[in-house]
Amino acid sequence: MKILKHSEDWILLAKGNANYVYQYNGSDSSLSDKVLRLRMKNQTITTEQVYKFMTETMCHMLPEVVSVELVQVEFMKEGALNEGFGLLMPNILKNMENVKKGNYFAAYSTELDDMSVLEIKPKWLIETSYGCRNCIHHRHKHGVEPLFCSRDLTDRRKIHDVSLKLAHHSTNVQIALEEYLLSENNVFHRIMKLQDPEFTMNGIYSLRDVTEDHCLQMTLRDVTVFLRFDGSSFIEAVVTDVDPKSPLKWDKWVKTEHQLTKQSLG
Ligand SMILES: Nc1ncnc2c1ncn2[C@@H]1O[C@H](COP(=O)(O)OP(=O)(O)OP(=O)(O)O)[C@@H](O)[C@H]1O
Ligand SMILES: [Mg+2]
Ligand SMILES: [Zn+2]
Repeated sequence: MKILKHSEDWILLAKGNANYVYQYNGSDSSLSDKVLRLRMKNQTITTEQVYKFMTETMCHMLPEVVSVELVQVEFMKEGALNEGFGLLMPNILKNMENVKKGNYFAAYSTELDDMSVLEIKPKWLIETSYGCRNCIHHRHKHGVEPLFCSRDLTDRRKIHDVSLKLAHHSTNVQIALEEYLLSENNVFHRIMKLQDPEFTMNGIYSLRDVTEDHCLQMTLRDVTVFLRFDGSSFIEAVVTDVDPKSPLKWDKWVKTEHQLTKQSLG
């Protein structure tokens, strides 16, 4: 297993709610295209558990899941779990300029070689009994309409409009995105098929009621999809953020669904 020794080689690139992502800034050329992902210190699931879940379960369900390498980390980072391990992954945003972050997506492009990356969290691709979970959640959290509805990514009638909104920086990307979304069996269709339409939080009153499948369903509702384009050509889809979810979060999940159901009625 690779051993990483120098903290100063790793510069914070981004953080989510559960992980820090660092960009490599050292002199080892074999690491120059990589990012290091460390768990935050409030997390109960370890990097080794994430690695096992990604390589033994998720990558068989979705071949687009990013390739990861488990590495030993000999330094400490502020705020991280500092458990001695990290995940090394390809840096999908390498050489990207014009980084634009939104609530639901980020578009990145470079003027020089016309490469673009879109980052999309599709969330709930199946409608719930109380409506579109994404739109209701967005209104509840931000008080405004979302920029786009991620369920439109799989709706042939809406694909043109959603492509215009997501790739407003480039007509080339709009065309390539639209073509990709119209293609059978694209990554959003397959994530949608993995999301169980019968899944709800009904009947969960304690930790004992939470099954492994509930946790898997929550993971499938929190993955990130990166789409890479070169000019007007679609290159690849890469799926990240496929961490196993801790059943200890059950009460938060139930509370959120309860709030959203109420919100949709009121
Ligand atoms: N392989 C990668 N290459 C480049 N950037 C990345 C990569 N993986 C993650 N990032 C960036 O880091 C951010 C946070 O990473 P990630 O989504 O894995 O963290 P998280 O804590 O699980 O987030 P969330 O709270 O959304 O679940 C991403 O939104 C993305 O912009
Ligand atoms: Mg995550
Ligand atoms: Zn919606």
